[in-house]
Amino acid sequence: MKSLIVYSSRTGNTQSVAEAIAGVIPDPCTISSVEEAPDVSEYDFLAIGYWVDKGMPDQKAKKFMEGVKGKKVGLFGTLGAYPDSDHANDCRKKAEELMEGNEILGHFLCQGRIDPKVLEMMAKMASDQHPMTEERKARIEEAKKHPSQKDFEEARALFSAIIQEICDFSEEYNADLS
Ligand SMILES: Cc1cc2nc3c(=O)[nH]c(=O)nc-3n(C[C@H](O)[C@H](O)[C@H](O)COP(=O)(O)O)c2cc1C
Repeated sequence: MKSLIVYSSRTGNTQSVAEAIAGVIPDPCTISSVEEAPDVSEYDFLAIGYWVDKGMPDQKAKKFMEGVKGKKVGLFGTLGAYPDSDHANDCRKKAEELMEGNEILGHFLCQGRIDPKVLEMMAKMASDQHPMTEERKARIEEAKKHPSQKDFEEARALFSAIIQEICDFSEEYNADLS
């Protein structure tokens, strides 16, 4: 089975999750930034990573994801919000909608520290509609600790389980044929 890990990452968070996942995907496995992604047609399994930009997978990841069809896929992403929030669930849903026509075998999301320049801008732009509340400050502080070792372990555990599922399926398939 040939695997490809493609990630889009502006400040390195998603790239670090991609590198953690690469540790549990058996050879042959290629890891690539989205900018340098190879033709996906020769790969059996794709792990695709994005960062969340305005509630969606970022533009580069989105474009790549829309071009993938008929593949077994595992998704992963990083975002500023808590991964169990409604916002994160919306992002998950949007990412999965982009991947229609593929078999999605798992989806991992964790927080990722937000670019300090963007944080500065967010503080300046805080308004009555979107105030810098204590809750928001705490969430931003928490994001600074991610991706953490625990996030890497969870991502590795999920992708190990996905690989196992694919292998079990192909063993059963081959047994049925013989
Ligand atoms: C321009 C911009 C927009 C962002 N929009 C969101 C967003 O809508 N929701 C969210 O939870 N995080 C948002 N974030 C936070 C990033 O998704 C998060 O920091 C992510 O880990 C960055 O990943 P990277 O280091 O791989 O680029 C945004 C960050 C930037 C710079």
